Amino acid sequence: METVVSGIRPTGNLHLGNYFGAIKNFLRMQEENRCFFFIADYHSLTTHPTPEDLHGNVKQVLVEYLATGIDPEKSTLYIQSDLPETAELYLLLNMNAYMGELERVTTFKEKARKQPENINAGLLTYPTLMAADIIIHKASKVPVGKDQEQHLELTRTFARRFNRMYNTEFFPEPVAFNYGENLIKIPGLDGTGKMGKSEGEGNAIFLADDPKVIRKKVMRAVTDAGPTVPDSPKPEPIENLFSLMKVVSTADTIEYFDTQYKTCQIRYGDLKKQLAEDIIKFTEPVRERILELSANEAYLSKVARIGAEKAHESGAKTVNEVRDIIGFRKF
Ligand code: TRP
Repeated sequence: METVVSGIRPTGNLHLGNYFGAIKNFLRMQEENRCFFFIADYHSLTTHPTPEDLHGNVKQVLVEYLATGIDPEKSTLYIQSDLPETAELYLLLNMNAYMGELERVTTFKEKARKQPENINAGLLTYPTLMAADIIIHKASKVPVGKDQEQHLELTRTFARRFNRMYNTEFFPEPVAFNYGENLIKIPGLDGTGKMGKSEGEGNAIFLADDPKVIRKKVMRAVTDAGPTVPDSPKPEPIENLFSLMKVVSTADTIEYFDTQYKTCQIRYGDLKKQLAEDIIKFTEPVRERILELSANEAYLSKVARIGAEKAHESGAKTVNEVRDIIGFRKF
């Protein structure tokens, strides 16, 4: 059994794309590995949220991950700041992290360009904190996408550097990991590209959206004037609606609209109505769990406490050993 660590940015509101991407991966991983999933609230301080926003976002993410089926008994689901040993390991790793290598990180350069008024040290050392998150549990696998590969490369560098410096094989070198074959790309509703939170209002369907909102978003999805030549290929916006149907509708429904399209009889209004209802049917149970969990503070507090305990058991052990290796010894 391998150890998996993944950090979740507390920027609330999972959408269908997240569900069929990261979440599906997590659900499968938690059956097969020793998983640590944590909400990266230390990391989020790099953008200076207010205390209310910080707490609200952490809660939303906790609720939504529980609602989609992350099981706090099978995995360790915790809040990063509930494992303060992470901060200690981060400090220790920073002593051997070099300006040059941190400044070269693409995400840092991008952030620095986007928020020139707030290029703080936390942004620069984001990769050291991320490395601490991962190696504190001695993880071997990290389920992240391409955008995080450079961070993971630095994690391996820091782990290797520590091992070499102290002549030990203490930290494994973690690798990126995904069940690539069953990753389904979920398109957005604006006609181009994939579903994303930042792609503009109405592009993404959130798991917490109520039926009225879902209907409105789907009815406004981009389409075109419709095919005039039988059997013509579907332009991207239309193909996207069919892709969405593939994950929420029955085979019969898809075949029906496909035939309507091929024979130039398609009425996009009908397709959208059906698609909206099928999305609602799909997301409704998750949405109900989200509402229930949001109101159940006692349960959330229990989940957070158990998560913190399990994370501490693993993380405190690592940090104690690291202290000893470094030469901090008790008198
Ligand atoms: N950087 C990750 C992201 O932006 C979040 C993250 C923080 C993370 N610490 C991590 C991911 C540790 C994996 C492992 O999505």
